[in-house]
Amino acid sequence: MKKTLLRGGTLAETGKKTDVLIGITGEIEQIKPGADHKDAEIVDCSGKLLFPLLIDCHVHFREPGLEHKATMETEAASALAGGIGLVCEMPNTIPPTVTVAALADKVRRAASVDQCDLRFYFGVTEAIHLQTLRDLWTGESMELKRLKHHCCGVKLYLDHSTGDQKVDGGILEEIFTACAELKIPLIAHCEDSEMNAAAKKAVETSGHSASSSLPRGAHVSLSVSAHSAMRPPESEEKSIREAIAMAKKTGAALHIAHLSTSKGLALVRAAKKENLPITCEVAPHHLFLTVDDYPTLGTLGKMNPPLRTPEDRDALWAGIADGTVDCIATDHAPHTLEEKKTGDPLSAPSGVPGVETMLPLLLSCTAKKFPHPNYPLPTNHYPLTFSDIVRLCFANPNRIFSLGAHDIKEKKPARIVIIDPNTEWVLEGKNLKSKCGWTPFEGWKVTGKVERIICKG
Ligand code: DOR
Ligand code: ZN
Repeated sequence: MKKTLLRGGTLAETGKKTDVLIGITGEIEQIKPGADHKDAEIVDCSGKLLFPLLIDCHVHFREPGLEHKATMETEAASALAGGIGLVCEMPNTIPPTVTVAALADKVRRAASVDQCDLRFYFGVTEAIHLQTLRDLWTGESMELKRLKHHCCGVKLYLDHSTGDQKVDGGILEEIFTACAELKIPLIAHCEDSEMNAAAKKAVETSGHSASSSLPRGAHVSLSVSAHSAMRPPESEEKSIREAIAMAKKTGAALHIAHLSTSKGLALVRAAKKENLPITCEVAPHHLFLTVDDYPTLGTLGKMNPPLRTPEDRDALWAGIADGTVDCIATDHAPHTLEEKKTGDPLSAPSGVPGVETMLPLLLSCTAKKFPHPNYPLPTNHYPLTFSDIVRLCFANPNRIFSLGAHDIKEKKPARIVIIDPNTEWVLEGKNLKSKCGWTPFEGWKVTGKVERIICKG
């Protein structure tokens, strides 16, 4: 076995050109120009970027119970191909991850997944799950401590989505209080169930045009675009407002999942000004797609929260620019093409895959090439940098969920993505590793490609 010398790459975080020497145990021995290369396999990294293997703090890998859509193995391969080496996986599997046994089963399955580090959210929908969560967090047994290590926090659905895991509103304060006391990271899907139900009814009874929140472009393709009107922006706003109020009351640190609206973002911005421990993530599909994409995408553009207006998209980019947005996370949610495309469009499952396409989409932005084939750079588009990608897709999720992932540092395991920032290529579902075999970004030309990953430790 030989050492490996990554020669002449540029560290994405600092922009410094350097050599990285990796020992035979997989530990980084030296980071400096002209590192010792005796007996090492040399990898020429000139003109290449070195990123830490990235983190995606929001994925659905579907195992167990939904293996016809995806498995841990297929989606881990997809994540690694996209430069992601640690994922936080959601509890809406079958069975849902709401018991110690279900968590233990996921941890056991993940042990045979190569290279990609899987962590799991615990779901809480009723009081008994909360008791189990307390046991998990405070248990003294070796087994509970081992499982806790693989659990990255609690996921709350404030309205139903895939898997119907809406939390019992009566125990919400208790959950927030427990998370505050035990310092458990808390991530919430914020949509208001009553507002969503009312909007759905309004759209169904009086036709699409009755909705006050008719999204732009919705007229073009009535059927699936009605999904955006049925889960309106005001619903996300109300739910975020209430969740932040609950966090303030209880002292819990709260992370808002897949924030999608300008109004929701404004609430997070205000909470941060108050120094409340509120963080948020946005998803690539909300940064790159809008309601204007329904005519092209049909049900492949259906997800929860739904596609929003170009103004919302631009607000999310502004939120990245001013630091309100902490993370970009994919909400990778594979469904089969058949499930997406057959039957009534409004009954098609919500969710899109994303782990393999996030990095090339973001790299394209660093090259000032907004990758959408039909729309130019949004008006106030933020000039994303490589170090922003490290912050949004590694350092911040690592901190918020206490994941303990290693940056590119001496004496740490080498977990590195080598990127060619200049390669132009086309995203095509058939070439992606995700079991679902499709992408909402089909045919998009992107700039920047994962060339190789070094994945030790
Ligand atoms: O679009 C979505 N898909 N939103 C969710 O909340 C769940 C996810 C899934 O699991 O399919
Ligand atoms: Zn999700």
